[in-house]
Amino acid sequence: MCSILGLSGDYDVASAIVDSLQKMEYRGYDSVGVAVNNDSEILVKKGVGKVKVVNDSIHMDKLTGNVGIGHTRWATHGGVTTENAHPHTCNTGSIGVVHNGIIENYVELRKDLEKNHNVVFKSSTDTEVIPNLLQIYFEKSHDVKKAIMDTVQKLKGHYAFVALFKDGQMVGVRNHEPLVLGIGRNDLLLTSDVVGLPENISSVSYIEDKQFVIINKNKYRIYDFEGNVAQSSIKTIPKSYQNVSKGLYEHFTIKEIFEQPKTILVAGEEKNNLEKIVEFIRDSDYVYVTGSGTSYHIAVIAKYLFSRFAGKKVEHVMASEMKYSSQYIIPNSTLFAISQSGESADILESVAIGKTKNAKILSMINSKNSSLARESLYSIGLNCGPEIGVAATKSFTSQMAILYKIADKLCDDCLGINFNTVSDAYEKMLSNTSKIRELAKSIKHIQNIFVIGRGIHYPIAKEGALKIKEITYIHAEGIAGGELKHGPLALMDSSTYVIVINPDDDSYVDNASSIHEIKSRNAKVIGISNKPDANYDYWIEIPTIRTDLYPLIEIIPLQLIAYYLALERGIDPDYPKNLAKSVTVK
Ligand code: G6P
Repeated sequence: MCSILGLSGDYDVASAIVDSLQKMEYRGYDSVGVAVNNDSEILVKKGVGKVKVVNDSIHMDKLTGNVGIGHTRWATHGGVTTENAHPHTCNTGSIGVVHNGIIENYVELRKDLEKNHNVVFKSSTDTEVIPNLLQIYFEKSHDVKKAIMDTVQKLKGHYAFVALFKDGQMVGVRNHEPLVLGIGRNDLLLTSDVVGLPENISSVSYIEDKQFVIINKNKYRIYDFEGNVAQSSIKTIPKSYQNVSKGLYEHFTIKEIFEQPKTILVAGEEKNNLEKIVEFIRDSDYVYVTGSGTSYHIAVIAKYLFSRFAGKKVEHVMASEMKYSSQYIIPNSTLFAISQSGESADILESVAIGKTKNAKILSMINSKNSSLARESLYSIGLNCGPEIGVAATKSFTSQMAILYKIADKLCDDCLGINFNTVSDAYEKMLSNTSKIRELAKSIKHIQNIFVIGRGIHYPIAKEGALKIKEITYIHAEGIAGGELKHGPLALMDSSTYVIVINPDDDSYVDNASSIHEIKSRNAKVIGISNKPDANYDYWIEIPTIRTDLYPLIEIIPLQLIAYYLALERGIDPDYPKNLAKSVTVK
């Protein structure tokens, strides 16, 4: 989703803003812009494309001014054009705004501003109403605080924005979208995500919902929307969140895939929270597990794991679908919300719905200070470090590892898993990727691919297909093996490829029938298995491991197939078109 940024220092801030925007580009990357204050107006430079490309062409980093704002966009209202890129200024050019979220009533606000205040709009965004409202209210009171309070009264929707006034005062406003204040020795920063913090700032204060912070030179003060001074606490951010880099890897995606032998070992390593979560799940008659995208696949896996090993029935619900079936949520149940970012709008909405039914909210998140964490009774952390690649990889295996840990506790240690064996299996698979690279080369022109799996391997098939879809733009479908004959077989011919997740467990025999059905239609089979089979056109070998643990390891070749296929097709896997890492709009 869009990232917003504001920096006030005792130096020219534009270049630091560009650096931070680059780090936050995963949130949105279709266009970018920077503005700085100047005594008489706000100076803006913006363009379409990624931060580096736009900066190389228009040199946003060369703007001079001690206070500035910046933005990377993921278009919601208005096409991807320079006019629609942020920052947006008011008609007098005295206030600039960068915004994340949606102003739901912008059409009526726009009409009113055009009709009654002669505002001429330069873009087709919802954002542009904000600087114009601010300007009208500021002209009346000459008071930044009052102008903000009047403006937020008018705005409907979920949003966060940073406004820069030409005298150098800057304001960050939060209403259901993330906003963090970074506090440095000589500088103050507003950002959507701590990943955007420059290296010299590690103290932060999380701005709460319906609060705003006014920054004037090196001073700040936080208020609620009623104008009362708000208390805030200051936290220190671990360095790993600020020094996010690709290192020697070509992309974040492959770096994050290769981090998994380590990250799998630290997932959910928070004994107390784990025990609390287990306790709630054990004691609840009804448990709902929810998530979006990859995190939803984890919810489906939870159903298989908890029922198989703990005899616990759970219901999985896609976060975006929760409101359409909320009437079925049994009062006083438990809602376990899964989200890497903890900021997805759909998951936050599903939690809000759960709360109306008095559900106890538990969560699994990577970002411990996220909105979801703050909405939860207990949260358990993935501890896998920042994930930048838009396609979730290491967060998925960490989420799954935590599910295994919960299942194990629910069944009184019946699983007794040693994650070192999983980590070793990862090392083995990652030490030689040549076969997968060859496969990617030979199938790079295909238009459709199916991934099948049975039982707990079905959500893994869905996840594998999602990876391929997200970063290769090949149409990919994850299918339960038994369902092939109920429709998908109609699509099989000699140009079709089917990846069969086929570990040597209780799904193996049934998969043999699926493979025959596929081969009889001349389609090609790519087997992911620890056992060879003469029917495979390609065999991607996985290590033999304890039967229950195959789901944790069979996803690795699927991630690698997606990554190398993206490279073969000339796609930047870190920044697939039209997607964003953290989707904070509904
Ligand atoms: C976006 C991302 C997906 C991710 C989903 C849920 O759609 O592109 O990779 O799985 O959001 O994100 P969350 O942070 O809630 O897990």
